[in-house]
Amino acid sequence: MCGIVGYVGSEQASPILLEGLSKLEYRGYDSAGIAVFNEGKIEIAKAKGRLAVLEEKTHNGATVHGTMGIGHTRWATHGEPSDENAHPHISNSGRFAVVHNGIIENYIALKQRLIERGFEFMSDTDTEVIAHLFEYYYKGDIMDAMIRVINRVEGSYALGVLCSDYPDQFIAVRKASPLIVGLGEGENFIASDVTAILKHTRNIYYLEDEEMVVLSKDGVTVYNKDKEVVPKDVFTVNWDISAAEKGGYEHFMMKEIEEQPKALRDTISPRIKDGKIVLDDISLTTEDIKKINKIYIVACGSAYHVGVVGKYVIEKMCRIPVEVQVASEFRYCDPIVTKDDLVIVISQSGETADTLAGLKEAKNHGARILSIVNVVGSAIANASDDVIYTWAGPEIAVATTKAYSTQLAVMYLISTYMADKLGMITSGEYARLISEIEALPDKVEEVLKSKEEIQYLASLFYNCRSIFFIGRNLDYAVSLEGSLKLKEISYIHSEAYAAGELKHGTISLIEDGTLVIALATGRDLFDKTVSNVKEVKARGAVVMGVTTKDHDMTEVADHIIKIPSIHETLLPSLTVIPLQLFGYYVASLKGCDIDKPRNLAKSVTVE
Ligand code: G6P
Repeated sequence: MCGIVGYVGSEQASPILLEGLSKLEYRGYDSAGIAVFNEGKIEIAKAKGRLAVLEEKTHNGATVHGTMGIGHTRWATHGEPSDENAHPHISNSGRFAVVHNGIIENYIALKQRLIERGFEFMSDTDTEVIAHLFEYYYKGDIMDAMIRVINRVEGSYALGVLCSDYPDQFIAVRKASPLIVGLGEGENFIASDVTAILKHTRNIYYLEDEEMVVLSKDGVTVYNKDKEVVPKDVFTVNWDISAAEKGGYEHFMMKEIEEQPKALRDTISPRIKDGKIVLDDISLTTEDIKKINKIYIVACGSAYHVGVVGKYVIEKMCRIPVEVQVASEFRYCDPIVTKDDLVIVISQSGETADTLAGLKEAKNHGARILSIVNVVGSAIANASDDVIYTWAGPEIAVATTKAYSTQLAVMYLISTYMADKLGMITSGEYARLISEIEALPDKVEEVLKSKEEIQYLASLFYNCRSIFFIGRNLDYAVSLEGSLKLKEISYIHSEAYAAGELKHGTISLIEDGTLVIALATGRDLFDKTVSNVKEVKARGAVVMGVTTKDHDMTEVADHIIKIPSIHETLLPSLTVIPLQLFGYYVASLKGCDIDKPRNLAKSVTVE
């Protein structure tokens, strides 16, 4: 949450900062601000609302001069969205300007002390204490001040700091919040995420916790807390710059929905060689797999929904018990995890605070951690024993689509790989699964051809007050995701239910005209789900059935969406596509801000 960008070079900083912030708006978008060093002073411009308000206020940066600056886009935690609470925050003398992502947990005590020492606070934020602490500790050396500040604050932070005594350089640090350094020619950058600086450079440094970086136009030096220089490897990002651009689409979400076949190909093909699944990325041996006692899957949001699919798939294929838990619960439930367990952590961003904490909790119990992550070098990737990257490319829309799909693909690869190593599937079944996994991108492409049909269905139902999704087993797992997709971007109340469970209470909400989206793709449970559909029909529901070309729902459903046939296990990858499209079109017809839904942020770096 919150996006940070910083620049030092020969160009005017403000337009570069604003452009960088526009790429980080997915991280938070309730206010934005920039601080630029100009003729011995730090100039600040900030505004409540979307970045566009700040752009207008500064004439796209033209009114704030200088060639070094820091910028921020905010997702409010402490203090409502307002001009005062927007970053950057400045110290009382105006000597320091600070942008911050994360949470300072001991800010109340620090604030009290600083007030007692005469500091005046202008905002309700936790961040402001950092600006004043810099002022308090500063004795002429900014690095010394930084070390004292980070020794004093508790919590998580990525910080960019300007000091008016340093006309040619600024300083940054991170702990448990993401921050990368971009290395240009005669210019250098910091950013929460590479997308913000991809236009300028592909060469980056990843910073470890508590590493400090001093940036000037001609160089970047990384230090540890003992002020020793830390040698860093340059990492070259291979993301295509167009991947972070809308490229003619009205919304990133639709662009990303349509990118799914490619993202799936990129994720699957390097891992299938000569008809075998090759997971070079991980060090889990056959012996290790045989010793696994239990698997935990820990994640948040849509990544958790991938975990629910994973539970069905792994248990069925490998006969290893799997427990899937949302990370915010797992981290505090004193989980019974042991060194004989494998914990699979799933995260697009690789920085979700609860997921990272869940991972650490599992690690403390001695469990082995295998993570499925999209962002290379992210905190979750770094903290894991093994990482399998999804190659979805940058995902900008808050509502995930292509990351979810690629996470599913990795889940199938892992399950099939483990089932083979455990001798739980025949060579024929193994070969069949592999060829079906390889066929997934084409089949997703086929489903995407039904866009107009789904758009039409959305036009019938976008005024609904409440929509229910039902399904059994894998269909239930996909219902969870379909329901979340719809509610997060269209603001229509929605619930997902295991089809057989609805009658234990929730069916009382079904009345004349209530839309129920019934997923009935699985062969074995098709008839059971159809019976549940009849129950809701009998109570007045309008039913939209989602099923495969092998099944017939004409008798029970008012509207039917058909998906191609595929190996039963892989059905979620196809079933989810019409649900993503349905959510998208409903939100679009309602005029919602699809890429930036209210109250949400893509990377949730607070618990
Ligand atoms: C947010 C996003 C979701 C995402 C969840 C977990 O809530 O809006 O789309 O599934 O965080 O994020 P992660 O980056 O860990 O996958």
